[in-house]
Amino acid sequence: MDTKLLYNSKEYQLARYPKTDDKSLRAWSSVELLVLDYITDKKQDNIHLFNDRFGIWNSVLSSKNPVTVWAYASQKKAIVHNLELNNLSIDITYKTPLEDLGKVDLVLMKVPKSLELFEVFLQQIHKSADKQTEVVCGFMTKHFSASFLKIAERYFDEVEQSKAWKKARLLILKEPKKGIQYKELTNEIDWNDNLLQQHYGVFSSGKIDVGTQFLLENLQVQSDELKVLDVASGNGILAIETLRQNSNAQVTLVDDFNLAVASSEMNVKGENAQFICEDNLDDLEKESFDLVISNPPFHFEHENNIEVSVLLFKGVRSCLRKNGRFLLVANSHLNYKTHLKQVFTEVKIVKSNSKFVIYECRG
Ligand SMILES: C[S@@+](CC[C@H](N)C(=O)[O-])C[C@H]1O[C@@H](n2cnc3c(N)ncnc32)[C@H](O)[C@@H]1O
Repeated sequence: MDTKLLYNSKEYQLARYPKTDDKSLRAWSSVELLVLDYITDKKQDNIHLFNDRFGIWNSVLSSKNPVTVWAYASQKKAIVHNLELNNLSIDITYKTPLEDLGKVDLVLMKVPKSLELFEVFLQQIHKSADKQTEVVCGFMTKHFSASFLKIAERYFDEVEQSKAWKKARLLILKEPKKGIQYKELTNEIDWNDNLLQQHYGVFSSGKIDVGTQFLLENLQVQSDELKVLDVASGNGILAIETLRQNSNAQVTLVDDFNLAVASSEMNVKGENAQFICEDNLDDLEKESFDLVISNPPFHFEHENNIEVSVLLFKGVRSCLRKNGRFLLVANSHLNYKTHLKQVFTEVKIVKSNSKFVIYECRG
């Protein structure tokens, strides 16, 4: 994997976190470089970085003390790792996508895959924007869609597109629209007498995912399964069903995405729930969970990637108690059995249909 970047006669080391075996993947793309090129002569202070996934902008612009708007626990780790690799300060000012941004002069954004998340970002920027604010959004041309332009035009009067460079392009937004009525950027899901809330951008917008539904239909929590872990918990639906079946259970929900964790906090009520924004299970007590449930991720922005899930499986193995069980649903085409068998001694298919498989793993 290429980790060396020569930028403005300076060499940077930029690695991906989590590590990947795919040698074609790098910690930056022409999108980030095109944005940097555009802002070279800009003198603005108060720079805000959105979706700096692995920290290239944090590294190159470190001396300007930008504010980093973070969404993923893994993103924070990648940024810190790369700043350290380049002997740069790790004293970062972080904000979440829902926090007040303060004064915003210049925004650098890699447009996220989720258009909903794009809107969350833009609405928050708009709340702090003034006549001087400039928002530079970079994206790969192949990922462009008209809806994404529409969202930009909802918040800014001036929306200009750049020429393409190495298949990347910019949208430059200026002049925040006046008199905007801000929306509550959440979706509601009506599920078995529960009205779930989730922030825009959280998995399976406005509905329960079909794979998750298949797992819910086949989930039977035993009365002695009291310590339960929901891995990659999203809006918390699997934990909710667990508590519905066994109100004595204690549930722990882990998700990498801060808006997913914030959504599950709105949905899973009571004192017997713990919420963790993390991308791995390393800090959980070893051999302690009776049951682990999951609809694990296999997308990483625009990349299809099961490496993250395989790492999570290893984490599940170490925090599952002896004879505890791990129940997960996956698209059948992913053929997880091979990977699960390398981690667990017992792997069986408990149910399948034309699209999904539910695996039960032990030991
Ligand atoms: C397929 S969704 C399942 C969400 C929820 N359980 C459901 O069924 O609706 C996968 C979730 O994994 C989260 N995720 C991605 N990478 C992760 C990681 N390394 N650790 C924990 N969660 C992760 C995503 O943010 C997303 O919420």
